[in-house]
Amino acid sequence: MYVDNAGWTPRRRGAMIFPRLLIRKAVMPSFELRVNGSAQTITVRDANEPLLYVLRNKLRLTGVKFGCGLAQCGACTVLIDGAPARSCTLPVSMAAGRAITTIEGLGSPDKPHPVQAAFIAEQAAQCGYCTNGMVMTAVGLLAAKPNATIDEAKAALAGNLCRCGTHQRILRAVMRAAGRSPA
Ligand code: FES
Ligand code: FES
Repeated sequence: MYVDNAGWTPRRRGAMIFPRLLIRKAVMPSFELRVNGSAQTITVRDANEPLLYVLRNKLRLTGVKFGCGLAQCGACTVLIDGAPARSCTLPVSMAAGRAITTIEGLGSPDKPHPVQAAFIAEQAAQCGYCTNGMVMTAVGLLAAKPNATIDEAKAALAGNLCRCGTHQRILRAVMRAAGRSPA
């Protein structure tokens, strides 16, 4: 009979491992999420798992980006009940039962959201890595203040970083979406 270096047979080792796996699976928490208008039930290992990981890895909504993971850059911004939120530090448990909107839920290539259309018109992206956060933050701003001023746009976007230095075009796009003259 095969015996491993610790003196265990395969049957004995399996008996030690599988009950633990079954117990772990039995206690994994599940949450009901409302993402882009559709109900999703997800199971995670840890109720503190960031919403970002659930959106990207479980629901395959990869428009939302991982930048810093520390709520410092804005690349992971989604809307929670219409307000911008950093999904990299938001535990999935705290998003349960709330309306989550990702950039996939805004518009489509054929029918972009007005803010997406303004970003396209102003060519407000270079590498595009920050674009999700910029667009979602702008959508949140304009939902609250449809005719936001340039100063209000600057304040709203102050925490969103763009490594490519596209800020002027981004502000022009937000002003276009707000129905104002470009900055
Ligand atoms: S990845 Fe969330 S703020 Fe940077
Ligand atoms: S366009 Fe590259 S980080 Fe903003």
